[in-house]
Amino acid sequence: MTHNTQAPETTGRELRVRKLEVDLSTGFDRHWHGGDAFRSMYFNALSMSFPVGEQFFIDSVRENLARLPEAPEHEELRAAIQGFIGQEATHRRVHGLYNEQLEQQGLINHWQDWARRRIERSAGFHPMHRLAVTCAYEHCTAVFADGTLRYPSWFDGADERMQTVWRWHASEETEHSAVAFDLYQALGGNHAWRVRWYLFVLLTFSWEALAQTVSNLRRDGSLWRLSTVWSALRFALGRDGMLWRCTGPLMQYFRRDFHPEQPIRAPQAGEAGSQALAARWLSANADRYRVIR
Ligand SMILES: [Fe+2]
Ligand SMILES: [Fe+2]
Repeated sequence: MTHNTQAPETTGRELRVRKLEVDLSTGFDRHWHGGDAFRSMYFNALSMSFPVGEQFFIDSVRENLARLPEAPEHEELRAAIQGFIGQEATHRRVHGLYNEQLEQQGLINHWQDWARRRIERSAGFHPMHRLAVTCAYEHCTAVFADGTLRYPSWFDGADERMQTVWRWHASEETEHSAVAFDLYQALGGNHAWRVRWYLFVLLTFSWEALAQTVSNLRRDGSLWRLSTVWSALRFALGRDGMLWRCTGPLMQYFRRDFHPEQPIRAPQAGEAGSQALAARWLSANADRYRVIR
């Protein structure tokens, strides 16, 4: 990987670490998402990827932080990285508890094994490659987080506690969406590798999300129901469907002048940006978490 000499950018936001006051140990319905098998199993699949994936993000950011020169202009970024690590570590813990319930419900987490094998294979790569992969996942996550906070229909009818888990995670992903990217830029990461790894991540993520969802639906006994297929089609293609709402924002990452703090989508009149949506959710739901740092 060749490095350019682009000026480093830093985030000016303070990142708080919040402990969620939601108890998942009492379990939740198999079809916690409003009785809808597809939606429940799709979001369950995403949750299954988080503990291993987020540990990888933490590790890749940490190993590259060690390569960042000690300089006053990086102090803000260093502080943001500590917040990033704290937030991702809390996400891992909560999704670990969530996934324990899924295991008790009889679902099998294949995604974590696929991810672990891939991470092992990346051991000989230059650390910047792993950081580029993290940046790519962070953008996918930020687009998904924006949808979670923006379109109430994505979680209509879902168990209250699960809505809280997903929206808390979405808010923090929005807050720290620029951190890994800013580190990549500060270390001179180039556009070509950023885009190559993004393509790889888009393909891998899409395939693994599909395969884990199908596995979950099969274990759940709801794979071949008409209602499952109908729900999947509606979720992807209906009003505020994922495909309509996410494709454009996902494509923005290919732009040479892309930065995570740019609006996820061209803002419509009177529409809030992602950061405003996250701040709004966090202040309206302050009784559901405790700030620990
Ligand atoms: Fe996260
Ligand atoms: Fe993240």
